[in-house]
Amino acid sequence: MTTATATATAHANIALVKYWGKRDAERMLPATSSLSLTLDAFLTTTTVTLAEGGTAPGSEHTATLDGGALTGGQLAKVQRFLDLVRGLDGVEPSLAARPAHVTSLNTVPTGAGLASSASGFAALAGAAAAAYGLDLAPRDLSRLARRGSGSASRSIFGDFVVWHAGDLADPERGDLTSYAEPVPAAADLDVAMAVVVLNAGPKSIGSREAMARTVATSPYFPAWVEHTEADVAEAEAAIAAGDLERLGDLAEASAMRMHATMLAARPAVRYLAPASLEVLDAVAALRAAGTGAWATMDAGPNVKVLCARADLETVTAVLADGGRRRVLPALPGPGMVVERQARP
Ligand code: DP6
Repeated sequence: MTTATATATAHANIALVKYWGKRDAERMLPATSSLSLTLDAFLTTTTVTLAEGGTAPGSEHTATLDGGALTGGQLAKVQRFLDLVRGLDGVEPSLAARPAHVTSLNTVPTGAGLASSASGFAALAGAAAAAYGLDLAPRDLSRLARRGSGSASRSIFGDFVVWHAGDLADPERGDLTSYAEPVPAAADLDVAMAVVVLNAGPKSIGSREAMARTVATSPYFPAWVEHTEADVAEAEAAIAAGDLERLGDLAEASAMRMHATMLAARPAVRYLAPASLEVLDAVAALRAAGTGAWATMDAGPNVKVLCARADLETVTAVLADGGRRRVLPALPGPGMVVERQARP
């Protein structure tokens, strides 16, 4: 039997126009399109190896993350994903019968709370598809990664990326048409991101559950959906025109609207911590003093600040506030890469 193994690397991405809410949780179809920037920091490297003789009944996929065995819900998510991959058209039955072992390493500063399902499932999609003998086009890898975690569809690509909501009328067509792709950018658009790491204790609620609660109970959710599609189109236009100010303005508005829609859920979902608000004030002060800086936040207290590459040092230093805060500078990063594979 041949060794079937592959290793892939993918980077985190930060949405500038946010994804918040699914229209189909089974197929992982989003309520809206979204748009992101892939970063050069915070990456996941994942190796998938198919078991040699593991076709005995009941033999299952196994996985480790940063050296520890995955269990419970996390393992179940990875197992479901691997079953999806081996069930795809084009996987030879002899390979499909073999369970996989996954070894995943996150390169994130310890304790930063930035481990990302986006880089994780993008790397897993690339490594698992290759290990099971598939040669998928980037668009199909993006559709596959989406099934693991919505935002992972965007980490298949580098730099600016749009993830299309896809056909809204028909779920089958929606599955085919909901993928990510690169957004063409003006040559002189040179952006960066300062990631402000705030320690605010453990997360109150995971993003998947928070999203579902928002869809089910927030009266603001329809308004969020209505505005987001237009925001994506405007962000694409700003990127094409190299207009950082317009892009930054839109990104900050999208993040605030996303948090507004979840604050209106019952019970409310609140990721904004007092320390986050302080950073939002500091970003506003930077802008008032003439430095282009715009804040965005995800399902946690950390604040990510978009700026011109030329301003990254200043923005990082100001937000670090003499060492009072931990700020990690990042630049645009590459898409998912399959680094090594032994062809089955
Ligand atoms: C706030 O992609 O982690 O980061 O699809 O349920 O796995 P699932 O959710 P996930 O949600 C990310 C939400 C966000 C905004 C964004 O990245 O667009």
